[in-house]
Amino acid sequence: MFFSFEGIDGSGKTTQLKQLTARLEETGLSVVATREPGGTRLAEAIRGLLLEKSDSVEARAELLLFGASRAQHVAQIIKPALKASQWVLSDRFADSSEAYQGALGLDREFIRAMNAFATGELQPKRTFFLDVAPEVGFERRRDGTEDRIEARGLEFLTSVRARYLEIARREPERVVVLDGAFPPDQLATMIWEDVEAFLVGG
Ligand code: TYD
Repeated sequence: MFFSFEGIDGSGKTTQLKQLTARLEETGLSVVATREPGGTRLAEAIRGLLLEKSDSVEARAELLLFGASRAQHVAQIIKPALKASQWVLSDRFADSSEAYQGALGLDREFIRAMNAFATGELQPKRTFFLDVAPEVGFERRRDGTEDRIEARGLEFLTSVRARYLEIARREPERVVVLDGAFPPDQLATMIWEDVEAFLVGG
């Protein structure tokens, strides 16, 4: 089973991914928790290049680097884990490119085609989108430690969020929109209730 977690920076998705990992492991399942950009040596190296604040990166180059990182991540981590019947939880996946690089003004259809190419059409069975107001995400990250992409500011995050909501409207059977203003424990319960259906269904 493959699930992804999405949201703007500071949405709390990483906390939820950790909680779900722990709960699934408690039931005796083998879980691979991973993240994008990253998860493999090549992808972590690309992550370093992409997030380094002092570098300027052309938007098309940025998109393709996220795509390269994703292709490696799918081939080296996600597909082998799924083949071994493990559960895979990814902190960000293809939707991040559609939302973030789409917000840079890159063509959405091209981004979707790139994602299909990079992933070999692999899609999560469920995507949990933690929806918070851009102001909230922005404030949570304004501690001077933000990376190159986070440093783009409030207007950019507003556009990213709008794109996530568009994806959710387009694919309601995959994307679960959760109000990130709820307390973390309550969100964890909501996510667990959804995931339980997959446990029963095998
Ligand atoms: P990260 O430190 O993982 O942030 P977060 O904790 O918010 O996930 O940094 C990843 C950054 O890269 C984040 O700002 C979103 C961005 N990103 C893209 O722009 N496109 C992508 O395809 C992916 C996977 C991430």
